[in-house]
Amino acid sequence: MSRLSLQTAITVKSFLLVYLLGSVVVSHLDSGVGSLKTKCIDEERRALLKFKDNLKSYNNDTLSSWGYEEEKKDCCSWDGIGCDNISGHVIMLNLSHLQLSTGGKSLNPPLTELHYLVYLDLSGIDLSGNNISTLIGNNMFSLQHLDLSSTQLEGSIPETFGNNMTSVSYLDLSFGYLTGPIPNSLGNMTLLTHLSLSYNDFTGSIPESFANLETLHTSILAGTS
Ligand SMILES: *[C@@H]1O[C@H](CO)[C@@H](O)[C@H](O)[C@H]1NC(C)=O
Ligand SMILES: *[C@@H]1O[C@H](CO)[C@@H](O)[C@H](O)[C@H]1NC(C)=O
Ligand SMILES: *[C@@H]1O[C@H](CO)[C@@H](O)[C@H](O)[C@H]1NC(C)=O
Ligand SMILES: *[C@@H]1O[C@H](CO)[C@@H](O)[C@H](O)[C@H]1NC(C)=O
Ligand SMILES: *[C@@H]1O[C@H](CO)[C@@H](O)[C@H](O)[C@H]1NC(C)=O
Ligand SMILES: *[C@@H]1O[C@H](CO)[C@@H](O)[C@H](O)[C@H]1NC(C)=O
Repeated sequence: MSRLSLQTAITVKSFLLVYLLGSVVVSHLDSGVGSLKTKCIDEERRALLKFKDNLKSYNNDTLSSWGYEEEKKDCCSWDGIGCDNISGHVIMLNLSHLQLSTGGKSLNPPLTELHYLVYLDLSGIDLSGNNISTLIGNNMFSLQHLDLSSTQLEGSIPETFGNNMTSVSYLDLSFGYLTGPIPNSLGNMTLLTHLSLSYNDFTGSIPESFANLETLHTSILAGTS
């Protein structure tokens, strides 16, 4: 349970890795997904279809369960989607390592309709042409697990990024083209247990607000320029 030692001024130029010892389980996800036949919510389905339409896939089978057809109407049964078994809201979007690409196009506006998401994993898909703001709404209040590693995201982390995402316990933004400072607002994510920012082009040092992150079981492997 060590706090971060902030005495050491650590440069986070291109390499910051905060590790957790132990694993993260989004516990109410296991229970909530797929246990009942839920009908998905129309505006969330439309948002997902729009998201898919903006992605090229290298293989026609990828996300073939997603579609406008009547028999595909229940987005809760689509690949990579999980819904809350009571409210029907989409709480999981997991496209991890599917062969999908924006082709450099901005997805703007971001996924603001999916504001009940608890688990969002887009790791390994090609989101070039996008930054965090064109992708993630500022209203994902329930998010606990956010993995945007290896997605070719660019730009800086929005200054207010952590303010509305205080439930996040797992955050991985590693292996991207992110620049600029690591914002103070990450210190508002007080439930973080896993944080990985490594292999980006951040400048500056670790914000002092990280001292708030008491549950981060950390060793920081930082350094290199
Ligand atoms: C939803 O999932 C939870 C956790 O598994 C379960 O306890 C609950 O009974 C489910 N709700 C319904 C309406 O089936
Ligand atoms: C995917 O479907 C389109 C249109 O149906 C077809 O022209 C194309 O050859 C298919 N691509 C692959 C990789 O199967
Ligand atoms: C998300 O997808 C990846 C790759 O298919 C899989 O390994 C992982 O278990 C999935 N996560 C959840 C919570 O279903
Ligand atoms: C947080 O959410 C509120 C309510 O939706 C919104 O008005 C505010 O702009 C958000 N703040 C940030 C920093 O995104
Ligand atoms: C993200 O991209 C949008 C559209 O290109 C731009 O307006 C915005 O300033 C960028 N934000 C960040 C934080 O880089
Ligand atoms: C945490 O969020 C609040 C607004 O929700 C903001 O006023 C405060 O500056 C944030 N703290 C940090 C360290 O950014």
